[in-house]
Parts: sequence; structure tokens; C-alpha cells
Amino acid sequence: MKFLISAIFFILLTFCSSSCTERNRYVIGVSQCSVDEWRDKMNMEMQNEAALSQKIDLIILSSNDDTEKQIADIKYLIDQKVDLLILTPNEIAPMTPLIEEIYESGIPVILVDRKIDSDKFSAFIGADNYQIGAEVGRYAVILLNGKGNIVEIKGLTGSSPAIERHRGFYDVLQQYPEMNIVFEGDAGWFRDEGGVQMRKALSAHDKIDLVFVHNDRMAKGAYEEATKVNRAKDIYFIGIDGLPGPGEGIDMVLDNKLEATFLYPTGGDKTIQLATDILEKRYFRKENILATSVIDKTNAKILKLQTDQIVEQQNKILLLNQRINKQLERYVAQRNIMYLISVLAILFCILLIGLFRAYHIKKKLNNRLHESNLEIIKQKNELETNQLQLLALSKQLEEATHAKLAFFTDVSHDFRTPLTLISGPIDVLLETTEPQNENYKWLKIIKKNVEVLLRLVNQIIEFRRIETYNVKLNLTSNDIDDCLKDWNLLFLQLTQKNKIRFHYKTDDSYFTFMFDLEKMERIYFNLLSNAFKFTEKGGNIYVGLSKIIEDEQDFIQITISNTGNGLSDDDINNIFERFYRVESHVTGSGIGLALVKALVELHGGSIAAVSKNNLTTFIVKIPYIKPQESVNKVEDRIVSYEIFLHDKDFEIDDSGFDNETDDKYTMLIVDDNEEIRFYIRSIFRNKYHIIEASDGEEGLHLAYENNIDIIISDVMMPKIDGVELCTKIKEDIRVCHIPIVLLTACSLDEQRIKGFESGADAYISKPFNPQILEVRIQKMLENRQKIRKSLTENAFFQNQNVLNISRLDDELILKFRNYVLERISDTNLNVEDISSEFGFSRAQFYRKMKAITNQGPNEFIRTIRLNRSIEILKSGKTVSEVAYEVGFTSPSYFTKCFKEFFHKNPSEIY
Ligand code: FRU
Repeated sequence: MKFLISAIFFILLTFCSSSCTERNRYVIGVSQCSVDEWRDKMNMEMQNEAALSQKIDLIILSSNDDTEKQIADIKYLIDQKVDLLILTPNEIAPMTPLIEEIYESGIPVILVDRKIDSDKFSAFIGADNYQIGAEVGRYAVILLNGKGNIVEIKGLTGSSPAIERHRGFYDVLQQYPEMNIVFEGDAGWFRDEGGVQMRKALSAHDKIDLVFVHNDRMAKGAYEEATKVNRAKDIYFIGIDGLPGPGEGIDMVLDNKLEATFLYPTGGDKTIQLATDILEKRYFRKENILATSVIDKTNAKILKLQTDQIVEQQNKILLLNQRINKQLERYVAQRNIMYLISVLAILFCILLIGLFRAYHIKKKLNNRLHESNLEIIKQKNELETNQLQLLALSKQLEEATHAKLAFFTDVSHDFRTPLTLISGPIDVLLETTEPQNENYKWLKIIKKNVEVLLRLVNQIIEFRRIETYNVKLNLTSNDIDDCLKDWNLLFLQLTQKNKIRFHYKTDDSYFTFMFDLEKMERIYFNLLSNAFKFTEKGGNIYVGLSKIIEDEQDFIQITISNTGNGLSDDDINNIFERFYRVESHVTGSGIGLALVKALVELHGGSIAAVSKNNLTTFIVKIPYIKPQESVNKVEDRIVSYEIFLHDKDFEIDDSGFDNETDDKYTMLIVDDNEEIRFYIRSIFRNKYHIIEASDGEEGLHLAYENNIDIIISDVMMPKIDGVELCTKIKEDIRVCHIPIVLLTACSLDEQRIKGFESGADAYISKPFNPQILEVRIQKMLENRQKIRKSLTENAFFQNQNVLNISRLDDELILKFRNYVLERISDTNLNVEDISSEFGFSRAQFYRKMKAITNQGPNEFIRTIRLNRSIEILKSGKTVSEVAYEVGFTSPSYFTKCFKEFFHKNPSEIY
């Protein structure tokens, strides 16, 4: 940009300087006193010279012999700020002060032809008028031989040439006493006035020999006047100026009108040269006298020729000058155009350079932008990396928290097993101990504390379940007021023991709404237990129940307050965090309030703690769901497992249960805990053959090797865990029929689901009631038996769905059935071939078929043949035809078997 400005400035300066040079030409003002041929010639000479010099502008004014007008002209020229003034003062006296003033003001003044009465001017140029006057006198003396009457017609009396010419003339004539000036008259340089003065002289003097007229113009008038009276031929007329041109001085000599004229040089060119010298501070003379000479018959002709030529040359020069001027004008115009084009070209270049620079700057900026973009991207990536690190850190933290929780859960599970081992035997002992017995009391205490411990352990497990989103609400319609009143009773003993005043207050609302009773109980017990724990002896506990509206929604609000030390702000902010423990409260696991919060939030509610004036208050808000509203869909889903695991278990139906079986079932117990195995064995040992395995791998091996009817397995085990064991068994055709009960401390829903996904037939959590477990196992085996029975009775099933056993078993049975049907007339169907065809050893296949159908393979082949025979019999074929067709070797054996199986004769089927 800077470059652009300086370039424009440079162009303007160049343009301006050339224009300024034009304007700095010298302006010269010229003030002429008269308008006549002599002055015209002088003006022309000045103009030509100025044109030649090419640096002078002339302003020429003429005052028509009027002194007043000339003064005005001069002032005008000064106003025009001329650099130099050239003037011919009309009269001496009135002009002198003005010229002095101008000269003193610093403007150079050149006097031409006429003088003033002062030397305050720059230079004078012109002929010596005294000299001319004297020359005329001497010429007259010669003409008249020193004797005669002379008339003198003078120029303007006040002008210097008139005065000096007269003096020169007079001074010469003085020397000749017979040369008499008989008449003197002032004709003011005018032709007509010359005539007037001549008339006067003629009338005054009869004899006039010579007339000296101060210029040719006035001489013309005088001659004409003399001619009029026919006296011209007797008189010599002598004039001054000697101008070339028609009718002018030289012509008048040649025409014999003048005896002679004296050259009075105009010197216009020399005046301009002098002016230039002055203006350009060159050396110049103050007095510049131009030469003069006489023109008479002797030289007039030559002079005329010469002057005519000069005039012609001058005219040509003038023409040339005009042309040059035109060329100059054209040149100036072209130069200006060239300047303009140059300016435009330069501007265009500048523009191009500007564009180029702009492009480069843009490119640079783009590069910088690109770089900064890269930097930003780098920073963004760093930020993202940081974010990822932070995320990873928070994930790690979260994982650590989960791990912590998982650890607590695992520990809780670990607690559960021994607790189960304590609780179970105690139940047995309590059953077998008389209440009067001393030990009964101890057993009761142990039982009670085991329950407390189990409750704590369950609480941790419950929280874990909520954390892993495995808990759903079981909404039922209840009156919360009634519930709170019931639960309050349980704390009565504590109020008495600790002398705590307990206040319970409700408003008049209707408190029946949908909520999870069990979870609400957990919430309330936790909060109230907390309140009791931290209330000092003699303190107060306030429980309030009300119905409130917030954001146009109804809530049930329970407030539980207790007096005591209160909580700090820090405690209030963190009290619901997992594992947060209030400093002043040293007891507790730090999970109770987090569990309460989780349970409240599960209801869509909120919980807050406030501590003020030593009163700590927990405010629970649970959304009010009207009792008539349909129960949350989730409830149905939840109950499915519950019903399966509990409801059915508790509704013990003994009707079909056969205790008297001779053939004992074989039970495989898989658990890494020897005590648990012992405990389970003690439950079942009387009614089952027991095989034990200490891990999943051993369990799987034993399942293959033995004819197992039921497997009870722990979940968490070394090598192969219970779920994997279950999956492996259920995916292996050889053993997939064996029902599996997963029995573990892991009561979490997610593990249950995993267990069922693996194909477990039941999932029973510890601690379990031994009787319930026993009945549950019995029921499962009974169901198996029923399925087997229906299979053998219905061996001719068409639709695999009717089997309703495991998928692999379904497939096996169908495959087996089809295999037999395709070869039904073959009496030699070989079990060994079939079992190897199906990928079993003969023994395995026998066990497998026995387990599924309660029949050996041969027996089951016969069942198929018999079932098929019924269909063929119905088509009208004879018993013997049918017997062979279904692969019996003899119709009598067929009839025997048929009768045994269907309790009918084949002939009865039509
Ligand atoms: C021209 C003129 C000349 C004369 C001169 C004297 O104006 O009258 O004829 O010689 O002036 O100044």
C-alpha cells in the first residue's frame, strides 16, 4: 500500500513539475503609448522574438496617446503579476512617479523609445533622439547651403523624443545664423495635426524652404497640406521613422514627398532579448542605443528592397511561428495524453503489483491460517487425547468403584455361604431341640444374629443389583400411612431403651398409592435406623407424612428428623455417595444411604438431607401413582422368575411325588466348598445316590461317565464355573437331558439370567431352606418322568413341539424315530449301528434313550413299530401283513407285544 501511494505521488509530481514549468514562463507586460504602424512593427518584432524564445508570454496594451489610460493600463499589468514591464511613457512628468514606484517594488522596468525624468528604471532601449535631431539639422544645412527658412513640426511636447529631437536640431542650426526656424508647432505625433500646423506655417510664411517633421506620419499630413496650396514642390520635407511598407517613410522618399527620412529603429526583438537577460539575471546594459541612419534618394530603393524582403521573411517567420505554436499545442495535448496513458499504465502496473502482493499476502495468510489450523487440530487432538485420558481415568475410577462394590458384593457372597451353613443347620437344630432346652435360647440368638448379618449382606448385594440396573419396581397398591405406622412399632423397643421421644405426624391426605412395598420398607428402615443411631439419649425423632404438589405433580413426602450433632455442609453434599462416611459417625458401611437414594430414585423420587440447629432431616419424595392406574409393565417381567423360583417352590404339591421309589436317582453335586457339598449331601443322602465333584471340569467328566439324573452345581468355581458347566452339558447330546440346578450365593438377577441362558433348569440362591430345595429337586425329577412317559406313550408324535424337552433331545428323538420309520420292515435293526450312526457308544446311547424315554433303544424301536402298526391297521391291512410291515418276525409276537403295550388286540383296531 505504501508503495502504491508513493508511486502515485511520484507520477503527480512529474506531471505537476512539467505543468509548473509551463506556468513558470515569464509574463512580460507591454504598455504602448500609441497605436500606429511604427508601434505595430515593434509589437510584431516583440511577439516574434517571444515566440522564438518559447518562454515568454506577452501582454500588450495600447493607450492611444492618452496618458491617463496608460497609467490605468500599467496598473492592470501589475495586477496581472507580470514579471517585467516594458513601456513607452506617453509623457514624462505624469509617468515618472508611477514608474519609480513599480521599479522600487522589484518589478524590472524597461523604457523603450521614450524616457522619464528619473533613473529609477532597469534599462532603456531606443535610438538617440538628440543625435537624430542633430543629424536632421546637419542634413538641412547641407540641403539649404546654410541659408533658408525652416519650419519645425514637433511631436507631443511632454514626450522625450519630441524634446530631444528639437534640442539636437536646434543646437546644430544655432551654428548657422542664416538658417532661421520661422515656425514651430506641436502636432502631438498625429498626421492630421501635422497638416494643421503646416497650414499655420504656410499661411504665416510665404517663403518656406524646409520643413522638419518629428515623424513621417505627421510629415504626410504637412506635405498634403502644402500640396493643397501647391507649395510642396518648393519645400524640402524631412521626416523620422523610415518605416518600410506601402505609403510609409521609405515609399514617401521614393515618391519624392520626403527629401529624406531618418531611420528610427523599433528594436522590438532587441527589447525582448534585453528583457530575457534581465529576467534570467544575465548581464545587461542600462542604456541600449539603437543605431540610426538617413534614408534619401541615394539608398531608399535598396532599403525598400531589403525591408520588403525582411517583411516577407518576417511574415514567413510569423507563419512558421503560428505553425510551430499549433504543433506545440498539439505536442502539449499529446504529451498530456501520454502523461495520462503513462499514469494509467503505472496505475495498472501498481494495481497488478498490488494484486500480486495481495495474492501473495493472501497465500501467506492462507499458509498461516493453515498452520494455525494445523496447530488448532493438534491442540484439538491433544485435548481429545486429554479428554480420552480423563475419560479413561474416570472410567478407571468408575471401574475401581465398581470393583470396590463388586468386591463388597463378592465378600457378601462369601459371607452368605458360611451364613447359609450356619443358618441351615440351626434350622435343623431348632426343629430338633425342645424349646425348654437351655440350648434352644442360644440357638434362637444365633439364628437372630445370622439373620441380621444376612440382612446386611443382602443390602450390599441389593445395592449392586440396583447399580447394575437389575432391579425393577414391584408396584402394588398400599396405604403408606398404615405401613409407616406398622414399621414404627418395630422401633418401639428402641424408643423406650434410649429414652427417645418419637413423633409421628401426617396431614389428612389419602395415602394409598402404588409403590414397591419391600423397597419402601428398606428405605424407611434405613432412614429410621439411622435416626435412632444418631439421636442422643433423651433426644427427639420426628417423622412426617404428607402429600405435596411440585411442578404440577403429586408426591408423597416423608420427612425423618432427629436431634443430635447434625451434619456439616460437606456431609450434606456427600452423604448419599457410596462409601461416604460421616466423620462423627464411625459405625456403618457407608452404603446404607446410597442404597436408600438408589431405591428412592428407582421410584422416580428424590431424597435430600438438611441439617439446621442440630436437627438433621431427610426428606423423601415419591411420585404419587394413583392406585387404579395399571401396574407398571415391568412388574410382569419381574415376577416371571420370582414365580418360577419361589411361588412354585412354596406351593408344594405332594400329590404326584413318589417317595417310595426303589430306584434311587443319581445326583451329582458340584461345588468347590466341601462343607456345602457335605450340607447338600446331608439333605439328599437318604433318597439319592450322591456323586460329588469339587469343580466344573470334574463335574462334566462325571456327568459323561455316570448315569446322572440331576446335577446341583455352584456357580462360582475354579476351572469351569457353574454357568459354563451348564452350557457344556446342555450343548452335548449325550448329557443334555440332565436337569441342572444352579445353587449359589450369587442371587443377582444378571447371574440368574446368565444361568438360564446357559440352560439351567433352576436357579436357587443361598441361603436356601433345605426342605424347599429337596421338594424343588423332587418336583423337577417328577416332571422329567412325566415327559418320558408321554414320550413312550406318544412315540408316534408328528410334531416335534409336542416333545417339549431340550432342543437336542427333540432332534435326537425325531431323528431316531425317522430313522426307524424309514427301515420299519427291517427285522434286524441294530442298536449298535444306530448308536454309532448317532455318534454314541452303545452304553451311552442306552443311557441316553433311557434318560429321555425311560426305554432302552430296542424297547423304543418296538414302541415306534407298534405305534406305526396302528396307522397301518387303520388302513385295513391284516394283522400279519401289518406285523411284517412294521418289522416283527412273527404275527404272534407282534400281537403279544401289541397287547402288552396298548392293552388291546390288534384286531380291535379298525
Ligand atoms: C510613433 C512615434 C514615431 C516617433 C516616435 C517618437 O508613435 O510617433 O512616429 O518617431 O513615436 O516616440
